[in-house]
Amino acid sequence: PFDWYRRMREEAPVRYDPGRRTWDVFRYEDVKRALDDDETFSVDPREADDFEEPEQPGAGFILDTMLFEDPPRHGELRGVVDDWFQPRTLADREPHFRELAGELLDDAVDDSGEMDVVADLAYPFPVTVIAQLLGIPPSDRGRFKTWSDTLVAAASDDEGADEFTERQQQSQMEMAQYFLEAVEDRRENPRDDLLTVIATEESDTGGRLSHEEALGTCILLLVAGNITTTNLLANAVRSFAEADAVRFEELRGDERALSNAIEEVLRYRSPVQAMSRVAVEDVRMGGETIEAGDRVVVWLGSANRDERRFDDADTFDPDRSPNQHLGFGHGTHYCLGAPLARLEAEVGLSELLDRVENVRLADATLQPTRSSFVYGVESLPIRYDERE
Ligand code: HEM
Repeated sequence: PFDWYRRMREEAPVRYDPGRRTWDVFRYEDVKRALDDDETFSVDPREADDFEEPEQPGAGFILDTMLFEDPPRHGELRGVVDDWFQPRTLADREPHFRELAGELLDDAVDDSGEMDVVADLAYPFPVTVIAQLLGIPPSDRGRFKTWSDTLVAAASDDEGADEFTERQQQSQMEMAQYFLEAVEDRRENPRDDLLTVIATEESDTGGRLSHEEALGTCILLLVAGNITTTNLLANAVRSFAEADAVRFEELRGDERALSNAIEEVLRYRSPVQAMSRVAVEDVRMGGETIEAGDRVVVWLGSANRDERRFDDADTFDPDRSPNQHLGFGHGTHYCLGAPLARLEAEVGLSELLDRVENVRLADATLQPTRSSFVYGVESLPIRYDERE
């Protein structure tokens, strides 16, 4: 999409697309301004003039979460789970995350010298981490993974759209049932896990989350946290391997260099390329007037390549500093899971680097992810030499 972004930043940085009945915003300054101004640009899709109830089952629950609520309700919903995503809290769990990544890699890395970064690490790792944080017992994780898969999956060629929808509905009903029972259970038997927090924590204005809100929060954590982190990990290995194998090796054992390089992946190959807003007042931007009730898509992936903001914006520079990318968004809805995603990327990549060297891409033709707003690849085969 990057050539298209560049052209749009030049020729039509704020433009209306009649086909999608949506405004698109491409430049860094405009994207940032829209995200800063949450009184004008609402996250609530129900504010749009042409809002239609989503047909996709389960989508309704997501509308009751922080992601689609404006202040002040937003802050109350976010406050319930906030503590669990602070770097300090997560640091306590790091050894456990390391163990999980280590187990996956011990299975994948062998003298064949080949693995698929997505299937072997980037995909299963975040799902297992979030299952563990929520407090899903290991015996239920197989089921949990299936639900999480169908949530983000798209219909494949060998399955009709109807069959797919049916399977998805079935899976979502099971998942909803499971979470509702788990919430009930934690109200009776609290434990040291995120499900207990979601089930019992009272927000500032008093009151626990309703059943719908609790369920929505569980689903949101799965939807928002899994394929995004999968693609961060895969995009990182891809970018490092492409850039220069020697530089990749230099990241081994150098935590600061590794975390700086991860920030550059978030900029250069942003896992989330775009986000939606609705204007709730008329607003001028880029010489155009966006009217109240209009939908607006802000292109993070374009903002992060804006040559007005970044030197050599189209170059992957793991040492780039400063690097004020918008890969996790900006402002009120800045990604809640950013510290977790960063930690997962650091842990996953450093465990990989401990086991392999001389990493190169095994396949020149990469299949992009099927999701429209997520940027990444369906699989990433690599070759490597096993380390002692
Ligand atoms: C919000 C990106 C990982 C949970 C966001 C937003 C972005 C984003 C761009 C802003 C949405 C908006 O303004 O409309 C990413 C990326 C990730 C990642 C690129 C990985 C590389 C995670 C993880 C979790 C998570 C691991 C949790 C397990 C959330 C939540 C929100 C959010 C709950 C909504 C926050 C709010 O509305 O206040 N994320 N995310 N994300 N993310 Fe992430």
